[in-house]
Amino acid sequence: MKITLSAEAPQGIATDLLVVAVSHKKAQLDPVVQKLDRAMGGALANAIKSESFEPKRGKTLSVEGRGRVKAKHVLLVGTGDAKLGTATARLLGVKAGRAGMSRTSLAFVAPSFDAPALAALSEGIMTGAYRYTRYLTGSRVPKKQLAKVQIVIASKPDEASKAALHEGTVIASAVNFARDLVNCPPNDLSATVLANHAAERSRAVGITCKVWDKKGIEKLNMPLLLAVNRGSKEEPRFFHITYKPKNANANTPKVVFVGKGLTFDSGGLCLKPSGSMLEMKMDMAGAATTIAIVTAAAELGLPIEVHGIVASTDNMTGGDAYRPGDVFPSRDGKTVEIINTDAEGRLVLADALTYARELEPTYIIDHATLTGACTVALGAYRAGLFSNDDDLAARYKRAAEASGENFWQLPLDEDLKDELKSSIADLKHTGSRLGGAITAALFLQEFVGNCKWAHLDIAAPAYLEKPLGIMPKGGTGFGVLTALALLRELGAGHA
Ligand code: BES
Ligand code: MN
Ligand code: ZN
Repeated sequence: MKITLSAEAPQGIATDLLVVAVSHKKAQLDPVVQKLDRAMGGALANAIKSESFEPKRGKTLSVEGRGRVKAKHVLLVGTGDAKLGTATARLLGVKAGRAGMSRTSLAFVAPSFDAPALAALSEGIMTGAYRYTRYLTGSRVPKKQLAKVQIVIASKPDEASKAALHEGTVIASAVNFARDLVNCPPNDLSATVLANHAAERSRAVGITCKVWDKKGIEKLNMPLLLAVNRGSKEEPRFFHITYKPKNANANTPKVVFVGKGLTFDSGGLCLKPSGSMLEMKMDMAGAATTIAIVTAAAELGLPIEVHGIVASTDNMTGGDAYRPGDVFPSRDGKTVEIINTDAEGRLVLADALTYARELEPTYIIDHATLTGACTVALGAYRAGLFSNDDDLAARYKRAAEASGENFWQLPLDEDLKDELKSSIADLKHTGSRLGGAITAALFLQEFVGNCKWAHLDIAAPAYLEKPLGIMPKGGTGFGVLTALALLRELGAGHA
């Protein structure tokens, strides 16, 4: 998809779909609508009236151009009452991209958009037009795809609007990259393949990605990752992506992202029921998000050091599979009694967090599809946010507001710590069903030491049964937008 900026008159633009953002309370009084309506001989005003169209946030009205304007179709999309922020600009872009995904060209009329809104708009158009087609053949292959997008602004494109467009497209490619990985069937995405994708994308943006195979992981000392991998025929992988900005110095913040990379979670010997196993190809969404964040930070040239750490394997039931009752050491040294083999995520993360902590970062931020309990607590569209640092939690919430992704902070409740007491080892790795998302987070906390850390349980929003807002069905790439908003904010203080 190629996106360009122009300041053309909307009625003269030859395109398949002309999208107009309407901010006026009465759509027919919007200046762009009025101009188009005159060119269309009143057809637009008629449609607004007959459909009782009110330009509420994200609401759309589709009208055929019928040859009276150069565009084949016109789509009005409401901006709502509030001042146009980045979250709304992004949503409008997504609506436009979705409406345009089966057409070849699209033009979006955005006269009042400032640079941040333009970035979010272009990003939204690109992520809105996303679909996963890798396994479609014959008549199922989409005949058209959105190739040409024009964003129409009030005045001639300048450096700021061009930079905004670049930023939007970089971020959108990162989100769509994460979605592709999450949507990929598990027979085609082993830990080895996931690590190859990470290495390839890192190379493409000019940063390093160090990958450890099974032997390497044994030498590196990651006993809990190896424990989870025991039931599998596939090798595990551990990888570390590093982005260091030019001119980095001792004051440059260092943020380490950690991702859960379970390419398939059968539950292990504590097997999942088939219904809940079906979607467990998405259990590497934290890893996909992590790779997307670090590589996008590099492409954007953010003035922050950013690392991505992923522990990857599948969780299977082979003859050598780990069992309830087993006790394993960890990279940290603490011993862990295995209770339920389906709580594998926190085990691989424990070793990865220990490794992350050794990098002495400013912040550690992990993304993990960690618990069904988090979905029970917060619903299908929201992620749980845990942090041992109030300032980091506040930063995260601010970043989430700008990104339009939904988080909710849950407590690292000390009172539940007893649930992780084992009579035979230093720690049990699961507690009771009550507060399951919290006990999982408390287990992780045992491995971050004194580091400032945030844990994002993205089990619910990483993969959706039906779309909502900016998120599509299937893999969503959830978390990428907020993390990049956070990094940009951190960077603004260090440029
Ligand atoms: N990958 C799952 C969590 C999950 C569930 C993600 C549903 C997305 C949708 C995780 O490994 C898991 O199985 N967690 C268990 C923990 C329990 C055994 C303590 C769970 O949530 O049931
Ligand atoms: Mn599991
Ligand atoms: Zn899992």
